[in-house]
Amino acid sequence: FNVPTPTNEPVYSYAVGTKERKLLKAAIDEARAKQVDVPMYIGGKEVRTDNKVSINPPHDHQHVLGQYSQGSKSHVTDAINAALAAKSDWENLPWEDRAAIFLKAAELASTKYRYKLNAATMLAQSKNPYQAEIDAACEFTDFLRFNVQYMTEIYAQQPPVSGKGVWNRVEQRPLEGFVFALTPFNFTAIAGNLPSCVAMMGNVVVWKPSNAQIYSAQVLMEIFIEAGLPAGVINLVYVSGPDAGDVIFKHPDFAGIHFTGSTGVFQDIWKTIGENIHLYKTYPRIVGETGGKDFILVHPTADLQVTNTALVRGAFEYQGQKCSAASRAYVPASMWPALKDAMTTDVNSFKIGGTEDFTNFINAVIDEKSFDKISKYIDRAKESADAEVVIGGTYDKSKGYFISPTVIVAKKSDYETMSEELFGPVLTIFVYEDEKWEETLEIVDKTSIYALTGSVIAKDRYAIAQATHALRNAAGNFYVNDKCTGAVVGQQPFGGARGSGTNDKAGSMINLLRWVSPRTIKETF
Ligand code: SER
Repeated sequence: FNVPTPTNEPVYSYAVGTKERKLLKAAIDEARAKQVDVPMYIGGKEVRTDNKVSINPPHDHQHVLGQYSQGSKSHVTDAINAALAAKSDWENLPWEDRAAIFLKAAELASTKYRYKLNAATMLAQSKNPYQAEIDAACEFTDFLRFNVQYMTEIYAQQPPVSGKGVWNRVEQRPLEGFVFALTPFNFTAIAGNLPSCVAMMGNVVVWKPSNAQIYSAQVLMEIFIEAGLPAGVINLVYVSGPDAGDVIFKHPDFAGIHFTGSTGVFQDIWKTIGENIHLYKTYPRIVGETGGKDFILVHPTADLQVTNTALVRGAFEYQGQKCSAASRAYVPASMWPALKDAMTTDVNSFKIGGTEDFTNFINAVIDEKSFDKISKYIDRAKESADAEVVIGGTYDKSKGYFISPTVIVAKKSDYETMSEELFGPVLTIFVYEDEKWEETLEIVDKTSIYALTGSVIAKDRYAIAQATHALRNAAGNFYVNDKCTGAVVGQQPFGGARGSGTNDKAGSMINLLRWVSPRTIKETF
């Protein structure tokens, strides 16, 4: 099948003096100048309620970006009904027409809407220009273009063998029912991908974004609509988790969930689906990317600069709020003094503040709950005999939810921040005796309750091979001599196992295959 060959969207630098920087600043100014009244989108209609919730940037409590309409159970029911009403026309539309809508959405996201989508992501999710660019403008666009390619590969799969007088074929049908997309705050791209890749395969969707991402979710929805997505195919609702769950998981037409979020929420959802399994027409597809406690394992032969860059970028970009962020590291004692100096110099050079000032590298964490959780861990580390805060360790929520990039040294490899997920700018380092490399490999594997991303930094090829084998189940995305963040669609399919999810790699054919229910047809002549 002939679709445009996907290539990764180029990343703009937004360097001083560039045209792109001016356009992004203008989009920020425009967004700040008006207050939007963000509607839900149900059956192609904008739906507003009297129950308004203020949208404020995490880095500036005083600033109001607008408000969104909080919905209730009846809106979830309306969204399901709208999805089911749209289903027949949508699934019968030739796949080329579906492909064309999402290719056009990619075009719009990378051109006309690029700055608006980045600005929304910067303001409401507190990302600096580069972090917004690699997420909203590039990763989202890449998901759309590459998924269209994978979709065609699924439809073009080798047909089964047909014997004499028989014609066998396999038809890739959409699921019977509707799919629920429950999306996170930390990547606008993931929020856009979860509903769109399901819809691409001919399914209809009820989409509930994280409250903290509603502001940019609306821009995604504008893009889908302008690209020609028919009414009811993706329905966007803002309701509480319990309200959504009560209606969705008791509905006979519930056919699947596409989820990114916490391990606890996913496990609760899985249990609820299990309890209600007798209600459904079909076994629902359960696809989720959940928590992480991603590691960087440094060998005594590692290059100091490579290690420093991997740790500093892996741990602190986007305030450590990537599911892939490095939050624990194992460093050989021989390297630690020099590494500590290098990290201290780099971290101290980071400017912290709001996203409107493009020179701030570190912005705010997403909300008060997150701020309180992370700062409590920092306080406990300051008081513990088993830990020492060696870099950062300060925080302040008077203007926004700011936490300085923090490095804790754990004196025991099972110290709490070596295994618990904080989802913030905190890296915990365990310094091991150089000769205990093999023991350290075992510790890393045993303490990997999650298994999303991980890195080994080494020059010694035997050490690289040893780590790659010993940690084969400890990370779904494993990096050699690199940070453990920044998977690129089409290059490193992304997802993990163990406590990190069902490992149905985002941006891959594996994922799209979860959203079809094949029918085998045998015809005899
Ligand atoms: N691509 C992101 C990362 O690997 C996750 O979506 O950091």
